[in-house]
Parts: sequence; C-alpha cells; structure tokens
Amino acid sequence: MASLDISITSLARPSVLTQPVYEPGKPIEDVARELGLDPATIIKLASNENPLGATPLGIAAAKAAAERMELYPDGGAVRLRARLAKHLGLAPEQVAVGNGSNEILELLGHVFLGPGDEAVMGERAFAVYKLVTLLFGAKVVEVPLVNHTHDLAAMRAAITPRTKLVFLPNPNNPTGTSNSAAEIVAFAESLPPHVVFVYDEAYAEYVENPADLRPLIAAGRKIICTRTFSKIYGLAGLRLGYGYASKELITLLNRVRQPFNINAIALAAGEAALDDTAWVTKSRAVNAAGLKQLAAGLARLGLEHIPSTGNFITVRVGEGAKVFAELQKRGVIIRPMASYAMPEWVRITVGDEAQNARCLRELAAVLGKK
Ligand SMILES: Cc1ncc(COP(=O)(O)O)c(C=O)c1O
Repeated sequence: MASLDISITSLARPSVLTQPVYEPGKPIEDVARELGLDPATIIKLASNENPLGATPLGIAAAKAAAERMELYPDGGAVRLRARLAKHLGLAPEQVAVGNGSNEILELLGHVFLGPGDEAVMGERAFAVYKLVTLLFGAKVVEVPLVNHTHDLAAMRAAITPRTKLVFLPNPNNPTGTSNSAAEIVAFAESLPPHVVFVYDEAYAEYVENPADLRPLIAAGRKIICTRTFSKIYGLAGLRLGYGYASKELITLLNRVRQPFNINAIALAAGEAALDDTAWVTKSRAVNAAGLKQLAAGLARLGLEHIPSTGNFITVRVGEGAKVFAELQKRGVIIRPMASYAMPEWVRITVGDEAQNARCLRELAAVLGKK
C-alpha cells in the first residue's frame, strides 16, 4: 500500500499550492453564529451589495423560473444576450454572459494567458485580476496607483511585447477612484495591437460620466468591457455578469466556457432586471445621498476618506483589522483592507440612510469619538 503514502497535495500542479485565495466578505449568518448575535440586527456593508435589496422585477422573474428548475437552462443564453444587446445597442454576438463578471475575467485568462505572458494591472486594483493571471501561470505586472487612482501613463509604459491583457476597473474597487472618460478613451487608443484591454465597469450604473468604449470596439480595437448584475440590480447571490466586445473576442470566450454556465433563475432575473429602470434610478439616488451622508459623517469624526465614485467608501481608521473586528462585534460588517496592503484602511459599502447612520455611530464608539 505504498501508494497511500503519496499525499494528494503532492499531486497538485505546483502553481496551485502557491495560488492566493480570494477573501470574501463574511456572511451575516457566520458572524451571528460566531459572535452570538441575532442575525436580524446585523448589517452587512462589506461586499458592495445594494442595500435596498434585489430588483423587484428580477425577484418575480426568478420565482417564476424556479418553478421549472427541472429543465437545463438555455445554454446559449439567447434571450438574455438579445436583451443585453438591445440595452447596449450592440449585436447579440457581441455579448457573453458569465457566472458573475468574475467568470468573464476568468474566461479571459483561459483564452489569453499562459506561462510567459504578462498582464498589467494597478497595484491596488480589484484582487481578481491578479488571481486570474496567476491561475494561468502568467506574470502579474503591478503599477502603483497615484492618489489612489490608476496611473494610465505608467500602465502604458509597463506594456511589453509579452503583455496580453491590461485590466482597468472604473471605478476601482477598493479605492473607489475613477479616471476621466477622456483619459480612458485616450489610453485605449494608445494600446498596441497585441494587447487586449479589459475595462471593468462593475459599478458603471453609479458613475456620472462613464467612458463609452463601444465606438472603439466598432473600430476594431481589442477591448472587452465587463459589467455585473451584482451591484445596482442587487442580484449578487445569483451570480450574473456579462462582457461586450467584438464578435471575434466573444466567440473565443464561448469556446472555453461551461455549456450551461448561467443557471435558469439567473437568466430570467437578469432579463427582467434590465426592464427595471425605476430600480436603477432609485438605487443610484440612494447611493448618491448615502455617499454624501458617509463623507460628512466621516469628516465629523476627523477620518480621512478617498472620494468615491462607486457604492462604497474607503476610510483611514488607524488599525483597520481591529476596527473591523470591533465593528463586527457590534453587528456591523465592513471590510478590512490589509489584503490590499492598506492595513490602516477599511472599506464601507454605502447602505441606506439608517444603516449609514448606525455604521457612523458604531465607528465613533469604537474609535472613542463622539
Ligand atoms: C471591480 C469589480 N469587478 C468585478 C467584480 C465581480 O463582480 P461579480 O462577479 O459579482 O459580477 C467586483 C465585485 O466586487 C468588483 O468590485
């Protein structure tokens, strides 16, 4: 039985053993169990979800779809892609849907990245770019942010003949900062033809003057824009995102995805969500008011924050891990930022008015301020 002496771990590809693991925000139920709190009293402002909940049209469609869950979903996501294409003014063949926009990012790794390739990204950009790049054995090229904002000139300078992908989230998570539309268009136009530009618009619906890269896509630029139903539409639990690009690029993504990567409930909810423009308008307004409320409250507490264009705000609190732990004990879950090498900072998702007020109150108490 000598073969039993071989550990399962030793059989893994070596890169799996060094692959970093994404740290998600803690679920409410886990925190309640660990700290002996009533889940109903806990507020989660940790994962940039919509504090108002999910789009009502999406919920109704999801419930109806759940009645037919014995059937496989539409593997081509034909109706949702057609609806998204209409929403975007593009052809359905220019749209791919993913299990969260996270899956689209991973499919890009499948298609474009391997050992010897490089991917350029901001040093404190959304963590998944790095994880995907490492997963496919490619090299992570990180470019420091300036004023917590992506330095597009430095990112352009970091491109080499080996660069395959360049990631830019706008706004960035966790800093909440944006580059201007004009800067982004100029950056996209400056990229050499061997590079694919991944423009991550997870928070697009919150942004005032978003860059529109569709004309550049139409002109043949190698660009993919990614978006999600997880944020303003409030469908994070269903895992649904999408990417739009040239037909050629979308065809490549379709080659590497699972046959039924989107479940039937998510397909139905996504389609209905796009009709819920009232929900988007309301959510955007609540977020704008909440950002102001938090910024003013943080200023009153004498805390520095990074001005945000998203649905979250990043704040310098001193010992981020400690403040996170203390707030959690008081039933407010936020996100420590040590994994982004910002140990003095925490990220707070914008809640509704009452949640923001409670978060500020508890923060003041934890920091010993009035
Ligand atoms: C910048 C950014 N991109 C992508 C995602 C992934 O979102 P999802 O996979 O839920 O669509 C997130 C989630 O927080 C994000 O902040």
